[in-house]
Amino acid sequence: MCGIVGMINGHPVASDLVSGIQRLEYRGYDSAGVATVDGGQIRRRRAVGPVSALRSLVDQVPLPGHAGIAHTRWATHGAPSEANAHPHVVGAVGVVHNGIIENHDELRDELLAIGRTFESQTDTEVVAHLLDLALESCGDPMMALREVSTRLEGSFAIGMIVSSDPDALYATCRNGPLVVAQEPGAAYLASDGSAIAPFVDAIQVLECGDRAELRRGHIRVLDERDREVERPTRSVRESEAEAGMGEFPSFMMKEIHEQPEVLERQLAAYVDGATGAIRLPVETLADKDQLILSACGTSYYACLLARYWFEEIAGMPCRVDLASELRYRNPALSDRHGAIFVSQSGETADTLAALRLVESVGMRSLAIVNVEESAMAREASFVIGTLAGTERGVASTKAFTAQLFALLCSAIELGRLRGRIADDEVQSLINEVLHTIPQAVILTIACSARLQAYAESLASQPRAIFVGRGPSFPLAMEGALKLKEIAYVHAEGFAAGELKHGPLALIEEGTPVIAIAPHDALFEKSLSNVQEAAARGAAPFILTDADGIGRALKLGDALVIPQVPALAQPFAYATALQLIAHHAATAAGNDVDRPRNLAKSVTVE
Ligand code: AGP
Repeated sequence: MCGIVGMINGHPVASDLVSGIQRLEYRGYDSAGVATVDGGQIRRRRAVGPVSALRSLVDQVPLPGHAGIAHTRWATHGAPSEANAHPHVVGAVGVVHNGIIENHDELRDELLAIGRTFESQTDTEVVAHLLDLALESCGDPMMALREVSTRLEGSFAIGMIVSSDPDALYATCRNGPLVVAQEPGAAYLASDGSAIAPFVDAIQVLECGDRAELRRGHIRVLDERDREVERPTRSVRESEAEAGMGEFPSFMMKEIHEQPEVLERQLAAYVDGATGAIRLPVETLADKDQLILSACGTSYYACLLARYWFEEIAGMPCRVDLASELRYRNPALSDRHGAIFVSQSGETADTLAALRLVESVGMRSLAIVNVEESAMAREASFVIGTLAGTERGVASTKAFTAQLFALLCSAIELGRLRGRIADDEVQSLINEVLHTIPQAVILTIACSARLQAYAESLASQPRAIFVGRGPSFPLAMEGALKLKEIAYVHAEGFAAGELKHGPLALIEEGTPVIAIAPHDALFEKSLSNVQEAAARGAAPFILTDADGIGRALKLGDALVIPQVPALAQPFAYATALQLIAHHAATAAGNDVDRPRNLAKSVTVE
């Protein structure tokens, strides 16, 4: 949460800094700010709201200075206001910060006691004061960063400029993502590579406790023990460099359409073309008695759905835990358990803490992540990259189906390793299921106009109910989350069989009930549940396939989703649910990529 960028080069940087944070808006968009050093002074502009508000300000009143820092905020301490917007400037330093300083109250009291005064309610201003004091006493910004870091509890990535040096930027991080990059005559820092991708060819990912001094064309990195280190450099990825939404109305819609390509990429990477073998690091899980899957939000629903696959295909008992619960529960863990953590960002605070908990008791964890240099990818014993490319829409789409694909392939490989399925059955699953998935998504996207017509009627509803059975139950929860998240319609996903145990009381005349009901062994049961709701006034919308449509239309509105093998169905139905949410949000006039109160990377508890 919150995105930071820093740049130094041979020309005024303010405009490029604003472009940089614009690319990080998925991390927060409550307020934004930029500060530069020029003529021995730190100058800044700040604005409440999305980065476009700051862009207008900077265009109207340009900022001079060849070195600067910028920030896009997701408010934690203090409301979204100009005073709380970063950069915070105190005395000789300007600071941007991503993360949370847990002991900020105590530090603030200490600073108040020595006469320091505060302009904001943020934890970051405390850091700016401490850095100003440390710099005053030691005169060296790198030393000041070191001294102050030892006083801070929590997680942070910090960028700093100092008024006395217009030719330098400084940075440090602890459990918060930070990358740096140098080019001839320039240097950059950012929360992730996508912010600076238009300006650089390669980036270095800083490690926990690193400090960096950036000068034009040169970066010096010191580790926690004050040793000069060189962090590995990697090229900027194509998806990080991509500029915009192209022909699409939102990043979310663009990412929905990217799903077939992502799934093809995964297929090519996970399945060996020559031998037909699935190549994923799941071998150590094969002899475990139980799998523990843990994640948050949409990634949690991917885990809930995968449980059906691990149990059915691999015969592995499975438990699925919200990471925010697992980490505080004293869970019964043993070396007979295999642990899988799923995350798009790889930096969600609760999932990372749960992963650390598992590793700390000597278990080895598998992380299924999209951001491959994230903390989870670094700290897990095994990693599967979901290869979805940068996902900018706050509502996860392509990362979700990519997680499902990685989990399905893992379940098939575990089934083989455990002797539950023979090699020829694996081949059939690859050919008859995995290969059909990208096409299933393409065909579902082709139903977009019909889904839009339905979704437009949802936008004005006070509530919506999603139901499903089997793997369609987690999909119902995911569909409801998508709708809540961007259309602001109160939606809940229920196991269809549970309606009569309470949720039926919510049904009023016209309450939308969206059923995910492929024509499978549970179809008739799901339909009976929908019928019970319809009998009480609900307005059903049934997503089914060609075999189910006749029956479904007798109950209400229904739509044919492409008929694909059972294991491929969730990919098609997930796409339909994403489109429903997108179209409903658009009909409501909402900013699909910037839903209110949310941010994509949730690095706070
Ligand atoms: C999905 O649409 C949400 N924005 C959210 O639930 C997200 O899935 C959750 O915060 C977990 O994030 P992660 O996958 O990066 O760990």
